[in-house]
Amino acid sequence: MKKRLLILFTNIFVCMFFSATLIIAADMPEEIAMESDVYSTHKKPIIKFTHVKHAKDYSIACAECHHDYQDGKNIWKQGDAVLKCSGCHSGAKKPKDVEMSKAEAMKKYHYTAIHANCKGCHTALKKEGKDTGPTTCTKCHVK
Ligand code: HEC
Ligand code: HEC
Ligand code: HEC
Ligand code: HEC
Repeated sequence: MKKRLLILFTNIFVCMFFSATLIIAADMPEEIAMESDVYSTHKKPIIKFTHVKHAKDYSIACAECHHDYQDGKNIWKQGDAVLKCSGCHSGAKKPKDVEMSKAEAMKKYHYTAIHANCKGCHTALKKEGKDTGPTTCTKCHVK
């Protein structure tokens, strides 16, 4: 009797585990070619971003990367529509002769925002001595 109960609970657990990973994988692209049309040309090799791996295997919350700010607070939650980063960070790269604060540049330019997100996280984890992704240009923009 005890053994049957144990098997039952193990089965329930296994089912829950797999359905949870299926839910995560179902509503999001697996891999994304980072080829935003804010850039008229791409000077660097296009990165194949391992989207589901980041969310699932590296256990990063959707809201670490997806947001919608209202009064300085991120009100985006899983299930809400996902806009492309360029939907809001619609400029390409800040021209050298344009003066603005780092925060303004972050809001406006895709280049500033995407590097702060990808490279920013990798660099922070590296400083903490944790497993991380590439932090240098050619290691991330691989051919
Ligand atoms: C952790 C990954 C990562 C690192 C490190 C990184 N980049 Fe990027 N970079 C990206 C992503 C993602 C984009 C957005 C590409 C897109 O969506 O079109 C991008 C965009 C760019 C673009 C604009 C698109 C293009 O191809 O012309 C340039 C230029 C660029 N990066 C140069 C650099 C340089 C120079 C460095 C080093 C100082 C660097 N990147 C480091 C991820 C990275
Ligand atoms: C480490 C960062 C990161 C995490 C974590 C992440 N995403 Fe994304 N996601 C992105 C990036 C970058 C894109 C590409 C956006 C673009 O093309 O501008 C994207 C694209 C998407 C898209 C497609 C949008 C489109 O129009 O092409 C959906 C849907 C999405 N994510 C859902 C999710 C969900 C749901 C989660 C959590 C289970 C999640 N993402 C976790 C970075 C992330
Ligand atoms: C609905 C509009 C919108 C979309 C879509 C959007 N952002 Fe943002 N993002 C903002 C605004 C507004 C700020 C400035 C927030 C503030 O300073 O209060 C911001 C700030 C940031 C910051 C700096 C603060 C922080 O949260 O770390 C980064 C990095 C960033 N965005 C990256 C991204 C990336 C990467 C994507 C795509 C996966 C994206 N954003 C999509 C509007 C957006
Ligand atoms: C919040 C933190 C975080 C953000 C944001 C993030 N990464 Fe990562 N990334 C990681 C971690 C953690 C690993 C490696 C974990 C490991 O190896 O166990 C990783 C690994 C990688 C790798 C190597 C392994 C693989 O899966 O391909 C690449 C390439 C990479 N990231 C690119 C990106 C790009 C491009 C973006 C932005 C679109 C991004 N990352 C955003 C945390 C992050």
